[in-house]
Amino acid sequence: MTIEAVEILPSDWREQVRTLAAEKDAVILAHNYQVPEIQDIADHVGDSLALSRVAAKAKQSTIIFCGVHFMAETAKILAYDKRVLIPDANAGCSLADTITAAQLRAWKAEHPGAVVVSYVNTTAAVKAETDICCTSSNAVDVVASIPADREVLFCPDQFLGAHVQRITGRDNMHIWMGECHVHAGINGAELKAMVQAEPEAELFVHPECGCATSAMYLAGTGVVPAERTKILSTGAMVEAARNTTASKVLVATETGMIYQLEKANPRVEFLAVNRAAVCKYMKMITPGKLLRSLKLGVDEVNVPKETADAARLSVERMIALGQPSPTGE
Ligand code: 13P
Ligand code: SF4
Repeated sequence: MTIEAVEILPSDWREQVRTLAAEKDAVILAHNYQVPEIQDIADHVGDSLALSRVAAKAKQSTIIFCGVHFMAETAKILAYDKRVLIPDANAGCSLADTITAAQLRAWKAEHPGAVVVSYVNTTAAVKAETDICCTSSNAVDVVASIPADREVLFCPDQFLGAHVQRITGRDNMHIWMGECHVHAGINGAELKAMVQAEPEAELFVHPECGCATSAMYLAGTGVVPAERTKILSTGAMVEAARNTTASKVLVATETGMIYQLEKANPRVEFLAVNRAAVCKYMKMITPGKLLRSLKLGVDEVNVPKETADAARLSVERMIALGQPSPTGE
C-alpha cells in the first residue's frame, strides 16, 4: 500500500517539510521500519541506539521523531530542554506494553540486589526503575558488563533475553516473558521452510523474533547454515547488507527494513521471511502527519522531570557502554 493511497498530499510536500524543518529549527529522525517516504525525507535514519545518540547530540531546538512513542520519549529524556514531537502520539509498541513500572517494582522486590536491564522498548516510567538500558545492538555487551555474581533481571523481551543468555552463558539471569507481536509472529517453521527453499541465501534475524532462538538451534543442528546465520539489530543489518557477498538474503524482522537494505546493497535480493510482519504502529507515521506535526507543533512528547531524571541515568549508562553505531552516527 503506498502512502498516496491513504492520504492526499500536496505535490510539493517534500519541499514543504524541508522548508518548515529549517524555519522551525527541527531535525527529523526516522527509524528503519518507517515507510520509505519518511526514511527518504529524514535527516537521520537508524536503529533505536543510533537515533538515541543523534537525539542526545542534536543542535536543533526541536526533534521530530518518526518512530514509536517510547523512542520519542527516550529522545525527550536525553534532550530534556528540547521540544520533542512525534507525528502521531498513538504510535505505541506492543512490547513496551508488556511491562509496567508497578510490575517491575514488584519483580525487583522478589530479587533484592539484582541489576535491572531493560530494553529501550519500555516506557519512561519503566526506565526510571532500571539500572541500565540496552538495545538489540548492545544487549550482549550490557549484560556482559555486569559482575558475574550479580543477579540480572532482563525485561521485557523474552527472545532478546534468551539470545543474550545464550551468548553470555549467564545462569543468574531472569527474563520477563514479554514479546513484540510482530517479531513473535516470525516463527521457526517459516524460517526453516524459507531456508530449505533458498539454500544459498544468507539469513539476517532480529533478536526479538520468535525464530531467533530457533535460528540458533537450527544452525546448531545444521538445518540452517551457522556461518550464514546472523542475529543483528536493525542498524547492524544495514552494515551487514553493505558487506555481504551473498546474492540473496532472507530477512527476519519488520518488513520496513527491506527498503534500507536494498538501498545499502542494490545488487542483493532481500526476501522477508514473513511478509505479514508489519508493525502497524510504525506505519502510523505518514508524510501528511509529519507535515501537520511541523506546522502545528504536535504531538508534543513530555515526561515528568523526576521520571526523566531517573530514566536518563539508565539510558546514559547504556550510551556510555554501547558499541559505535552501525550507521556511524
Ligand atoms: P532496533 O533497536 O534494532 O532498531 O529495534 C527496535 C525495534 O522496535 C524492533 O522492533
Ligand atoms: Fe514495538 Fe514490535 Fe513495533 Fe518494534 S516492531 S516498535 S517492538 S511493536
